[in-house]
Amino acid sequence: MNTEDLYKIKNQIHQLVKDIGNYQLENLGRHDLEINSKSSAVDLVTEVDKESERRIIKFIEANFPDHGILGEESGMSITNKESDYLWIIDPVDGTTNYAHGYPLFSIAIGLQYKEETLFGSVYLPYMDDYFWAIQGEGAYLNHQPIQVSTYKTLDMSIIATGFPYNKKTTTDNNLNYFSKIMPNVGGIRRSGSACIDLVFVASGRTEGYFEMYLNQWDFIPGQLIVREAGGVCLSKPLRDRYALVAGNPHIIEELIQQLKEVSDQDYPLSIIE
Ligand code: IPD
Ligand code: CA
Ligand code: CA
Repeated sequence: MNTEDLYKIKNQIHQLVKDIGNYQLENLGRHDLEINSKSSAVDLVTEVDKESERRIIKFIEANFPDHGILGEESGMSITNKESDYLWIIDPVDGTTNYAHGYPLFSIAIGLQYKEETLFGSVYLPYMDDYFWAIQGEGAYLNHQPIQVSTYKTLDMSIIATGFPYNKKTTTDNNLNYFSKIMPNVGGIRRSGSACIDLVFVASGRTEGYFEMYLNQWDFIPGQLIVREAGGVCLSKPLRDRYALVAGNPHIIEELIQQLKEVSDQDYPLSIIE
C-alpha cells in the first residue's frame, strides 16, 4: 500500500464517518436507546455502538476483503486473522457520554501494517472535526495541518486524563496519579474519550494526557496523529491493557517525571525507547 492509497483511504473514511456521525447525532439523547452493561455496571454499550461498528466493518470488508479487523464490540475478525494489515476500530469512543446525551464522543479508525500504524483518524460528529494522519505526511484537522502547542511548562499546561471502568473495585484506578498531577498543572480535564484527549494534544488544545488502562482501539489512531503533529506519545503494555502518556515535546519529560514519582513500575516510559 503506497501513500496515494492511504490518501484515498483518508477520503473514503472521511465520508464514512460523516455518515455514521450523522446517524449517531440523530440518535443522541434518545430516551429509549438500548443500553447494556459489559465488564461492569458502568461499562456501557448502546445499540448505536454496535450499529456504527457494523457499518465500519461492512465498509472494510467491501473494500479490503483480505484485511484483518479488531473492533471494540466484535473483537478480532474470525477471517484474515493472519493478515499483515489490521484495522483497529472504536465506533464510539466516549460511550458513557453518548449514553447520557453528552455530545463529546468520537469515531476512531486506524490501519496498521505489521503492527506499524499507517493511518489514523478520529472524527467528532458534534463538532464535525475530522482529525487524521498518514505516516510521514503530517497531521490534519479537516484540511488544516495541526501542531502540538508551544506551552513550555507543566504548571501552565492543560493535562487530560481518564479513569477505568473498574474504578470502584480497584485501588489501581488512577487516583494516585491524578492527585499528584492535579495541583501541579494549569488545568486538568476528563473528556470521557481517550481519542479526543489525544487529538486535542495533537492540535494544541491541551498540552498533555495520561491514562493507565487503555485498549488498543482507545489510542492507536490518536497516537499516530499526536506523533505526526510533532508530539510524543508513548504506550506500554501494563497488566492486561496499556499505560499511555502523551504531550508536547516541552512538557513531556516533566509530566513523565511526575508520574514516575508515583510509581516507577507503571510509568517506566522514556522518550528514548
Ligand atoms: C473509554 C474512553 C474513556 C477512557 C476509558 C475508555 P469507551 O472508551 O476512552 O475516556 O477513560 O478508559 O475505555 O468505552 O467510551 O469506548
Ligand atoms: Ca474507547
Ligand atoms: Ca467504544
